[in-house]
Amino acid sequence: MKLLVVGSGGREHAIAKKLLESKDVEKVFVAPGNDGMTLDGLELVNISISEHSKLIDFAKVNNIAWTFIGPDDALAAGIVDDFNQVGLKAFGPTKAAAELEWSKDFAKEIMVKYDVPTAAYGTFSDFEEAKAYIEEKGAPIVVKADGLALGKGVVVAETVEQAVEAAHEMLLDNKFGDSGARVVIEEFLDGEEFSLFAFVNGDKFYIMPTAQDHKRAYDGDKGPNTGGMGAYAPVPHLPESVVDTAVDTIVKPVLEGMIQEGCPYLGILYAGLILTADGPKVIEFNARFGDPETQIILPRLTSDFAQNITDILDSKEPNITWTDKGVTLGVVVASNGYPLDYEKGKPLPEKTAGDIITYYAGAKFVENSRALLSNGGRVYMLVTTADTVSAAQEKIYDQLKRQDTTGLFYRHDIGGKAL
Ligand code: AMP
Ligand code: GLY
Repeated sequence: MKLLVVGSGGREHAIAKKLLESKDVEKVFVAPGNDGMTLDGLELVNISISEHSKLIDFAKVNNIAWTFIGPDDALAAGIVDDFNQVGLKAFGPTKAAAELEWSKDFAKEIMVKYDVPTAAYGTFSDFEEAKAYIEEKGAPIVVKADGLALGKGVVVAETVEQAVEAAHEMLLDNKFGDSGARVVIEEFLDGEEFSLFAFVNGDKFYIMPTAQDHKRAYDGDKGPNTGGMGAYAPVPHLPESVVDTAVDTIVKPVLEGMIQEGCPYLGILYAGLILTADGPKVIEFNARFGDPETQIILPRLTSDFAQNITDILDSKEPNITWTDKGVTLGVVVASNGYPLDYEKGKPLPEKTAGDIITYYAGAKFVENSRALLSNGGRVYMLVTTADTVSAAQEKIYDQLKRQDTTGLFYRHDIGGKAL
């Protein structure tokens, strides 16, 4: 069987690499992918994620069994609907189901209607009304652009002035374009953050190991929000009972709600949660795998990944199994300056061997050579599994010390909350 993965980052590298390990898979193509992926035998297809008809033609001509959609913007643009329309299978939610991610207001309405615990909120398109709401509620308070904003459309404001300024930038200065034409303003939730992922088909779902991302750029959760600088799974200090509560109060009702609303969910559901004093509450839903969480979750999958997805797409019961051994941890290496302006073209260290995996995100071959250069904000990620978080940290940070990371940076405290 031949498969296609849509996307180009570390997440898609991890998805495609895992699919290629499956018994019946002969080839995995990635569109557009990045050069680093070819070191793992993946084949790149030079078509961008927005060119749906070219991707469809490619899938037809190459007899692709099904296509795995990685990124949120492709889902929001209706790529799954377009594939389905011509009779092709694609793993991911339809545009209507992906609205859980592409509109924070829609997600909030669903949560309120189906009684899913989340922060109290108001939605505004008028700046004066937003300002009045912020002044009434006080700080800390959180201001979010309604639409997709590459993880940058959220301001956790410590003062009323900061919150008003954020609302001003989104509603009046158009900082996020259409994505910020409406804002969701919500209660600040205090507690530890974690991510819960599930494979989903309608009301059937299969929970993955818990994960914790590190969204701020620098050590000690300082600096700007990024796509994610490192992660580990499972989160050892998170009691099983919290996961059970999250399943019962969050995952089940939201999936039942999506069926009631006429947009049943198929794909990966990603719940971003905060464990508050009143139990887990939702800060966001995403309609896809997380990046970098995928890179530390999928190595723990012990079943045949491609077979699992085939079964879900065929509405059969998948046999999904995970290792319960130790912890898988990964550290992202990014270009100096990320998530703001950064330089490209720095030489990258050799791909690791043995039990440390290298996943590439922004990596490109030097012309006529197999040497890689940096070509994006997040560049690569090292991932390993060990008995404990500290043992995994030691392996990764030892390796990173031996690599030349000139022009690049990484956090030194990934997994620190588990120690
Ligand atoms: P999001 O893009 O919605 O994941 O938000 C980015 C980050 O802002 C999250 O990872 C949280 O750290 C923080 N955040 C979002 N919503 C809230 C909230 N209601 N209370 C506290 N922190 C939040
Ligand atoms: N790691 C955060 C995200 O994928 O949205």
